[in-house]
Amino acid sequence: MTVRVPAKLNLQLSVGPPRGDGYHDLITVFHAVSLFDEVTVRSADRVSVRVTGEGAASVPAGRANLAARAARALAAAALSRRTKSAVQIEIRKRIPVAAGLAGGSADAAATLVACNELWRTGLSQAELREIAASVGSDVPFALLGGTAVGQGRGERLTAALVAGTYHWVLAFSTGALSTPDVYAACDRLRAVRAARAESELAQASGPSQRTRTVRQEAEAPRPALSMELMVALRSGNPSAVGPLLSNDLQPAAVSLRPELRRTLAAGREFGALGAIVSGSGPTCAFLAADADRAKELAVSLTGAGVGRGVVRVKGPVGGAAVMAAEPG
Ligand code: C5P
Repeated sequence: MTVRVPAKLNLQLSVGPPRGDGYHDLITVFHAVSLFDEVTVRSADRVSVRVTGEGAASVPAGRANLAARAARALAAAALSRRTKSAVQIEIRKRIPVAAGLAGGSADAAATLVACNELWRTGLSQAELREIAASVGSDVPFALLGGTAVGQGRGERLTAALVAGTYHWVLAFSTGALSTPDVYAACDRLRAVRAARAESELAQASGPSQRTRTVRQEAEAPRPALSMELMVALRSGNPSAVGPLLSNDLQPAAVSLRPELRRTLAAGREFGALGAIVSGSGPTCAFLAADADRAKELAVSLTGAGVGRGVVRVKGPVGGAAVMAAEPG
């Protein structure tokens, strides 16, 4: 059973304060793009994972692998203990690893869909989504695809109304960024900024309830959906969407990888309508007016030698979908 699954961008990523469980409450606009991994599962005597393609060597093997975790979570939820549930999972990667494109989550979603078909579990979409959320915050969106608003830690989804097709250039970066590291850097930067804002205000007008409120709001802003972005997406006009792309994790990603500043500036200089770090980075995403402009932008970015390569993609595309089933 072979399933194809897309990478995602976050067109908006509004991050709230850290929660007690180590996650951050957020509101995000997910957007699936035409950069796909392929996952094949076959019945086997034991669970194994084989990875080929982009960044294969840095994908954790065995139990730590998200795809293996997804297969085990599905078996635990849907199969009786006596049912044979071991599978060989083969992942052909095109989505770079730890790049802010949810590649690991995509592979987990593809494995869920593939095993669900292979085992004919009869689970509903809602049940599958719940198992997906237990494997990772971005896994439910990789099942759904398209463009969707994510809430909670990103796992609660509402499909969004979007007109037209958007043309993107992705600039890959050398090396990876760890998602928890980027969230932690975001918290640190906010704490520093909040302390500074409080002390400036206190110097001007003396400490008060207001200075404390300013600090709290800067340290722990409430995540909010950009209605302007939602209206622009409905218009299908990339020129309206470009300036409204936003990512609260971007300052943190740039603080950990300062060279991203140059990559983003190069994209803007070459005419991108919007330039943004994707999720926790380090991949940068540039919005172009149409397919031809995307081609020009890709050529210019390649010529400028930023990052380690570029790829053109389109969005939105559908979520994890069965491509082929082997006979028998
Ligand atoms: O859900 P997932 O395992 O993909 O998340 C990886 C890490 O990213 C979490 O352990 C957490 O550190 C961070 N994260 C977060 N808030 C979210 C999603 C992820 O802090 N909403």
